[in-house]
Amino acid sequence: MDRIFSGIQPSGEIHIGNYVGAIRNWVQLVNQYECIYCVVDYHAITIEYEVSSMQRRILETATILVACGLTPDKCTVFVQSHVPEHTELTWIFNCVTPIGELERMTQFKEKSKQHRHNINMGLLDYPVLQAADILIYKAGYVPVGEDQTQHVELSREVARKFNARYGETFPEPQVLLSTAPRIAGTDGQAKMSKSMNNAIGLLDPPEVIQEKLRTAATCPHRERRSDPGHPEHCNIFTMHTAFSKTDQIDHVEKGCRSAGIGCIECKELLSENMVEELSLIQARVREINEKPGYIIDVLKSGASRCKTIATAVMDEVRQKIGIKSDW
Ligand code: TYM
Repeated sequence: MDRIFSGIQPSGEIHIGNYVGAIRNWVQLVNQYECIYCVVDYHAITIEYEVSSMQRRILETATILVACGLTPDKCTVFVQSHVPEHTELTWIFNCVTPIGELERMTQFKEKSKQHRHNINMGLLDYPVLQAADILIYKAGYVPVGEDQTQHVELSREVARKFNARYGETFPEPQVLLSTAPRIAGTDGQAKMSKSMNNAIGLLDPPEVIQEKLRTAATCPHRERRSDPGHPEHCNIFTMHTAFSKTDQIDHVEKGCRSAGIGCIECKELLSENMVEELSLIQARVREINEKPGYIIDVLKSGASRCKTIATAVMDEVRQKIGIKSDW
């Protein structure tokens, strides 16, 4: 069975962009592939963060993944730092990765602007750690949102460079995009992201979701109720395609184009569907939180499974690069 790897940062509340762009797709893939999903805590320390809340955020993120359906009987969920071979392989990959490739990464450029006073090596090296995450398991497929495709491309290049220098070892992993690979924020412009303050949280209560949607940006070309709208330019419509049923999407699209329905009605329908889907996840989160130690056990057994694979691959890598000794 082909192997899948993907990861998510424990950097604050998980939002619906993470959910429809990645997590929901991860759940669908568990039946066809051997899936490994990771809470990437070492990636999250490349920007300023609150040390005292890190443990809570790691556990919260893992809880959400399991609540979404990534249960231990179907796939492996673990924490990156629990398998230190990820960072060990990163060092080796650093020695085959051209700095120029890292400097041209869009996310590095964006984060360098956002965190002007903390442009650290980790920020530049971020995609190499990501390549090590994927390749330490020799994963063939990586389900991510659109913003991560460039990083997965880089991991292909890292695999190529390593293989060319040391002999065929790693596959070139391929991106798998979901049907909603880029969700804009409630501002309707920037990508939905916790740091932009434009996110709808997966754990937001119904009234918060309703309020965030009520005030969210719609089609910029529709100023009055009587103007026909352009669903292809409206982020609310994109969200409908992710949360509503086919006949509802059809109804909204036709209604918007003909000015048959207004933005308020359209948002109310979306709000209902979103609340319905998220409330199931929220109920499961509550259930999991009532079982003390459950998530920790899931993460421990996940790490132990991953450690077995990672140790074997690191052995092979050390051998190939001439570092393995028989002393
Ligand atoms: P992260 O934590 O930023 O996001 C997790 C996943 O959510 C997707 N995503 C979105 N999809 C659609 N619309 C959005 N607005 C949106 N925002 C986020 C991301 O594309 C991602 O798939 N670098 C990765 C984590 C990582 C990783 C890996 C991924 C570390 N190692 C190895 C794959 C393989 C990241 O920051 O994801």
